[in-house]
Amino acid sequence: MRTVHTVKELRAMLRARRERGEKIAFVPTMGNLHQGHIELVQNARTQGDVVVTSIFVNPMQFGENEDLDAYPRTLAEDQKALEDAGNHLIFAPTVREIYPDGMEGQTRVVVPGLTEHHCGASRPGHFTGVATVVTLLFNIVQPDVALFGEKDFQQIAVIRKMVADLFMPIRIVAVPTVREEDGLAMSSRNGFLSETERERAPVLYQLLTETAKAIAAGESDFTSLQAGAMARLRENGFQPDYFNVVQSETLQPATASDAQITVLAAAKLGSTRLIDNISLEKD
Ligand code: PAJ
Repeated sequence: MRTVHTVKELRAMLRARRERGEKIAFVPTMGNLHQGHIELVQNARTQGDVVVTSIFVNPMQFGENEDLDAYPRTLAEDQKALEDAGNHLIFAPTVREIYPDGMEGQTRVVVPGLTEHHCGASRPGHFTGVATVVTLLFNIVQPDVALFGEKDFQQIAVIRKMVADLFMPIRIVAVPTVREEDGLAMSSRNGFLSETERERAPVLYQLLTETAKAIAAGESDFTSLQAGAMARLRENGFQPDYFNVVQSETLQPATASDAQITVLAAAKLGSTRLIDNISLEKD
């Protein structure tokens, strides 16, 4: 497995493989890899001949007061984990390599509509940062297929719309959320939780599960389900950001007649922001 840091090196390596007719599967990440990322890589091996994983903590998607500086950077451990997972090539560029003229002058990709609610409302500019860097990475790697985790449900919806709107010839594959034994969705940010916060953290997934069960059992007053879950989060020491029952494709508020429903939630525990979601299909 090779690690390259420049666009030039990456392109040279991939050109040879593409010429041999090999298909490229791509997994974009910000590193500090856990089993959730590794499952994307393992799935990628079944989707293409060469698996490329990028590791880039993208400053454009972090807000002013967010954890860009504190975000864990663990390249040596990540290389080992990727080698074990059968990844072929790591692209780990510097910020200068991706944004040579700085971020101010950078052309941006703005996905309207979908990005205005949920995480987009609480993290203004976040999804523009994600859509922009994913476009740059797609243009650099030119994959046939790219894999994303369902844990970041809104992110996948944004990427799918961007790929469709811009006629990008890339297949997007969504991989189910990988969880700890107690239900907590794996995340690079879980390491920021104190011991007591870590004990409480699974409450977020428990509330999502309870809400999904209630909806599946016929509860159609989504407003009160949402309010109830927000209150329970507060009782458990979270500062909830949102807890929304939405239609799975549009991410608009769900109505009682919708068959495909996703419950999206984000909440802070101490200074750590956790997000999670659960999808269900009503018959
Ligand atoms: P990052 O948070 O590192 O996540 C990289 C990929 O791993 C994303 O597609 C994310 O949804 C997936 N992932 C994270 N935790 C997961 C889990 N517990 N189970 C399954 N998949 C999981 O998401 C980003 O980076 C960035 O926004 C990025 C797309 C790389 C653009 O900078």
